[in-house]
Amino acid sequence: MTIAIIGGTGPQGSGIGLRLAVAGEHVILGSRDAERAAAEAATLVDTHRPDGRLEGMANADAIDQADTVILAVPYKGHAELVTSLADTLAGKLVISCVNPLAFDKRGPVGMQIEDLSAAEEAARLLPESTLAGAFHHLSAVNLHKLDHDLSHEDVLVCGDDQESKATVIRLAELVTGGRGVDAGALRLARHLEPFTAVLISMNKRYKTNTSVYITGIRQNGDTK
Ligand SMILES: NC(=O)c1ccc[n+]([C@@H]2O[C@H](COP(=O)([O-])OP(=O)(O)OC[C@H]3O[C@@H](n4cnc5c(N)ncnc54)[C@H](OP(=O)(O)O)[C@@H]3O)[C@@H](O)[C@H]2O)c1
Repeated sequence: MTIAIIGGTGPQGSGIGLRLAVAGEHVILGSRDAERAAAEAATLVDTHRPDGRLEGMANADAIDQADTVILAVPYKGHAELVTSLADTLAGKLVISCVNPLAFDKRGPVGMQIEDLSAAEEAARLLPESTLAGAFHHLSAVNLHKLDHDLSHEDVLVCGDDQESKATVIRLAELVTGGRGVDAGALRLARHLEPFTAVLISMNKRYKTNTSVYITGIRQNGDTK
């Protein structure tokens, strides 16, 4: 599988891409600037020597070569970017980890947006693509520390297409070495995205990196 990451030069996109490449997948970091993407990919390859191919190119070229695309851009500018890439994204599985958050004197909070979540906004703007939400709660810092064990962290996956969701769950397992959990329909992204504000708030309060783990489900999805 070839996975393109839009916003692949940022800490979250490059971190997810690095983990997937280490797991042996072919990853293309995308950017508005092809040279920036190529430089980021080259740095990660030089530093970590992943088993999988890791390269960088312009967003549209990255999408063109991929089966699956991860959206890892800030919410600001998200709608414009997604709209500009809609034709290239048609027919692809698009996974959003975008968290629309605001920060003020009282700390982080989920933004109230018209479509209720970035993933649902993307689904509206990309009628020819299949949308899923995942990776909202993984810390970019920890993704880049390859000796940091992420296998105890759950990746909550939402989406309306079961087959695509199974693909995202497999990718989540490759990223963390732990579980991808089917969290339900795409519309539940409106609860998963702002929950990141709660994690960031706890990170500040307890000076740590919190994460999500759901009890009551075993590794293989059984509940018994
Ligand atoms: N950082 C985390 O720990 C973390 C954790 C969970 C989820 N997330 C979510 O993941 C997403 C990416 O996070 P990040 O911290 O990696 O973000 P970031 O560094 O602010 O941005 C990622 C990349 O997006 C591109 N970008 C920036 N502004 C853009 C715009 N207006 N239009 C198009 N592309 C733009 C840039 O790449 P180019 O300039 O190269 O195009 C940038 O390197 C966010 O939605 C965030 O909420 C982040």
